[in-house]
Amino acid sequence: MNVVTIINKKRQGLPLTKEEISYMVDGYVKEEIPDYQMSAFLMSICLKNMNEEEIFYLTDAMLHSGNLLDTSMFGIHTVDKHSTGGVGDKTTLVVAPLVASTGVDVIKMSGRGLGFTGGTIDKLESIHGFQTYLTEEEWMKQIEEIHVCIASGGKDLVLADKKMYALRDVTGTVESLPLIASSIMSKKIASGSKKIVMDVKVGKGALMKTEKEAEELAKTMIQIGKRYGVTVKCVLSSMDSPLGYAIGNGLEVKESIDALQGKFAPDFYELVLSLASQMVALGLEISKEEAEEKVITNLKNGQAYEVFLKLVEKQHGNIEKVDIADTTYDVCSEEEGYITSIDALGLAQISSKLGSGRENLEDTIDYGVGLWLLKKPGDFVKKGEALLRVYYREKIVEKEEILKSFRIEKEQKKGTSILLKYIV
Ligand code: URA
Repeated sequence: MNVVTIINKKRQGLPLTKEEISYMVDGYVKEEIPDYQMSAFLMSICLKNMNEEEIFYLTDAMLHSGNLLDTSMFGIHTVDKHSTGGVGDKTTLVVAPLVASTGVDVIKMSGRGLGFTGGTIDKLESIHGFQTYLTEEEWMKQIEEIHVCIASGGKDLVLADKKMYALRDVTGTVESLPLIASSIMSKKIASGSKKIVMDVKVGKGALMKTEKEAEELAKTMIQIGKRYGVTVKCVLSSMDSPLGYAIGNGLEVKESIDALQGKFAPDFYELVLSLASQMVALGLEISKEEAEEKVITNLKNGQAYEVFLKLVEKQHGNIEKVDIADTTYDVCSEEEGYITSIDALGLAQISSKLGSGRENLEDTIDYGVGLWLLKKPGDFVKKGEALLRVYYREKIVEKEEILKSFRIEKEQKKGTSILLKYIV
């Protein structure tokens, strides 16, 4: 087999065989194929797409590039949740303990933030002492005791994705349906998930900019899941505006603690309720309505928060010490009116400039910096009233730059739900 022939074949839009795809993935992992050839291959996939069969072969080749976790000892009740990545997306921090509080086992293998999207592992590491690396024995014990663990994916899972994702990030090849679907699904299958609820984000602050693209991604992931006997249910949710109030690691932990104590931003509540109910319905094999009742009860009676506290304690975190910068400034509105939109991507980039995001996986980040929205879309703001609080340390961002992310109009726009569609 010849690498250039395979690249040329895809460049011409022709379908590749299982052997050709495996040859590329295996060769790259073994470092027999250099970055420049893999980059050309990835770009040809971005431009010419892949059919369902090819996407499955790609997922399978990536899946077998590393170890596989066996979680079958937990029976069929283990349920996983995944988000395709958004701004201010701290949902896992609330949903995982909430679902676990109903008795469903949640083994959550999470990642770090890259580019404008945040990562659950970074958020948790803003809690002093929190250990995100657990041995297989440790997380098994934790599941037995409290039904939930949130850990960084084992070092040896899906080696191909680690290399390919880093390469995609610097070669303009992240936004491609076959590459996103295979990257996500290979990791989910490798970490042993049998039932998955996917939060597919749509909008300016998401990888999928339109509902049509997101729907296609959802359907592709459902089909891949079927091939492995894995149930995948997708919720399409809007990511035009940041989710909830906080953007930035420590701040998002604070918002999650508030939420688990009953203080939710309305959009965050809607999303948490939907994802958690789907997971509980899948895990306990009950109706969505029954599941929703359990979820609401455990939010109200504090059981979800208790599980969160136990999770932090078991993973050696000190909940009294969450890294949040103590220097702040407010950005105030220069006009009066209704907020009709807040640019998620714009604010993510600003938070990144403050130090909360990384360009490369090796970059160090500042867990304590970020943004806290004091107004959400639909709210009325007076001239001079604060729109947002900036938590900073060394770097600041000019107020004028931040104001560009807010659209303020005289007329109030009709409120819309963050939930766009269910695809099951
Ligand atoms: N999340 C992933 O894990 N992979 C992608 O390619 C995009 C989002």
